[in-house]
Amino acid sequence: MQLQDAIKKRKSVRRYLDKKPDWRKIIRAIDMARFAPIAGNFVLRFILVSDEKKITKLAKAAQQSFVGTAKYVVVAVSDDSKLVRSYGDRGLRFSPQQAGAAIENFLLALTEQDLVTTWVGYFYDEQVKDILDIPNDLSVEAIFPIGKETKIKTSEKRKIDLENILYFDKWKNKKMTPQTIVSMGGV
Ligand SMILES: Cc1cc2nc3c(=O)[nH]c(=O)nc-3n(C[C@H](O)[C@H](O)[C@H](O)COP(=O)(O)O)c2cc1C
Repeated sequence: MQLQDAIKKRKSVRRYLDKKPDWRKIIRAIDMARFAPIAGNFVLRFILVSDEKKITKLAKAAQQSFVGTAKYVVVAVSDDSKLVRSYGDRGLRFSPQQAGAAIENFLLALTEQDLVTTWVGYFYDEQVKDILDIPNDLSVEAIFPIGKETKIKTSEKRKIDLENILYFDKWKNKKMTPQTIVSMGGV
């Protein structure tokens, strides 16, 4: 699959086939996370959860029942302390940034292998840590219920237009020199 096809195909899916996905594909996707840019240390860790009871508890911790319908759930956890040691307070900003970069690699690699998920960022941290024995000083970045997509169509989300996110030379300037407004049709 071409990179831009994977980028465009990736979407949040909250309904999964009953059939278990191949765990090897999930591990391959986690492997791709390692290639993301990092601020010195790769401080993100992934927990692959297959224990049904734990998955049910994670769904409760997130208060999102669809999480409990997945056969596998991946939980991404950062250890901020290593980055704070190297970069002081700035490390606290680097940590979620590099987690996001690694997570996007992971999501695209899942997409390439025809697996679907949703990035779940809302949950009770303490409960998730308790369920998975995660030390208190670590940060749970996100939860990813993973499955195979059902045939039931989910509505495509409209994405923000390029011209609304791109400025030239200064804040809010939408015109490139020479005077051109860049839109999807223009590049
Ligand atoms: C940081 C973050 C947290 C999110 N948390 C949740 C969540 O708790 N529950 C959920 O259903 N979706 C969550 N999402 C998924 C977004 O709702 C989804 O990405 C967005 O609606 C765009 O749709 P798309 O992923 O299909 O492009 C989260 C996404 C991000 C990036």
